[in-house]
Amino acid sequence: MPSPWPDPLILAPLTKGGNLPFRRLCVDFGAVVTMSEMAFAGPIVRGIRKELALLRKGPTEPCFGVQLAASKPEMAIQAARAALERGAAFVDLNAGCPIPEAVHKGMGACLLDRPRNLERILREMTRALEAPVTVKLRSGFKDSRINVLETSRLAEEAGVAGIVVHGRTREQRYTRAADWDLVAQVVRARGIPVAGNGDILTWYEARDRLAHSGAAGLMLGRGALIKPWLFQEIHEGRELALSAPERVAVYRRLAGYFREHFGEDEHGRQRSVDFLGWHFAFFHRYRPLPAEEWLERSREHPLLQTRLDPIATEDPLEQVLACPDASTHLQVAEILMDSADDGEAEDRLATLAAKLPPPEDRPRRAEDQT
Ligand SMILES: Cc1cc2nc3c(=O)[nH]c(=O)nc-3n(C[C@H](O)[C@H](O)[C@H](O)COP(=O)(O)O)c2cc1C
Repeated sequence: MPSPWPDPLILAPLTKGGNLPFRRLCVDFGAVVTMSEMAFAGPIVRGIRKELALLRKGPTEPCFGVQLAASKPEMAIQAARAALERGAAFVDLNAGCPIPEAVHKGMGACLLDRPRNLERILREMTRALEAPVTVKLRSGFKDSRINVLETSRLAEEAGVAGIVVHGRTREQRYTRAADWDLVAQVVRARGIPVAGNGDILTWYEARDRLAHSGAAGLMLGRGALIKPWLFQEIHEGRELALSAPERVAVYRRLAGYFREHFGEDEHGRQRSVDFLGWHFAFFHRYRPLPAEEWLERSREHPLLQTRLDPIATEDPLEQVLACPDASTHLQVAEILMDSADDGEAEDRLATLAAKLPPPEDRPRRAEDQT
């Protein structure tokens, strides 16, 4: 069976973050395989517009996969058909989502604790659907019940075309580093493509994790949210080290994509500002990580996991882009949306920096939830 992924890098399914304009930006930077936000099969089958909107593929996306949350095969199959009719290249079953809305209904990470049901859904999906079916697994539901060797075996027997392993349990959330040794074990045990997921922030971590695990692919989540140009960095094996003005240009390009997507009227503008502001919860975490300085440290512990100090800089543009405060993110988003060109955006952002409290009085980024 051919690999479902024509490129080793996969943009992770990201609720809210994996919106169509953001995926378009990632494609600009070389992403070939993109994925939808998780869509619930039930509302898809009932034709709920908001959920159906998640299945929309952008015209530039070469290989777009739709991720579904489902607890029953019939629902999963019907929802998958709706996705394939809209241009999806493959369909992924979510077996890792930690949120109670999914878990309490037998979906997401709950399937890790119900491996027979996981297998049944996947088997019926692979039988009924023409397109490749993949599954995204976590290492297990709890630290005391790590069972990804079992769930991945059942998935392979059910006929899936590829497996993504996020090397953390539901219980861990993001508190500990993803377990790439476990990813490597799954790769060795399975005869189908396995992609690893967790904590990739730099091109050299991507290279090292890929070599260490032997995985067929890497899924990028927060790393892509922090720097959408990560795809290009990994493909080219170098850090792009974008300056603050270059990053402003990237963020303004995304602002333009939001404007095209949501429309120019006041309602559309507000949605664009909200989304762009939300993205700054990740964009502000950017910092340069040259391999000469960081490679060794990244081998001890993933850089995404390391609590990095704020950037010490006098440059007002850098300061405002690195500000962790959510209300500043919205102001930044408004400036990016409303400026006529990059130069005006830079000037207005620098002016905003002058109004920020001094660095020592600024809120530190809250202990990582993500
Ligand atoms: C904002 C956000 C939304 C996410 N939404 C989903 C989702 O809809 N489906 C899913 O399978 N995982 C989701 N995840 C998990 C990621 O796909 C990925 O497995 C996880 O972040 C680990 O990868 P990373 O360390 O590269 O971020 C989400 C993660 C984040 C940060």
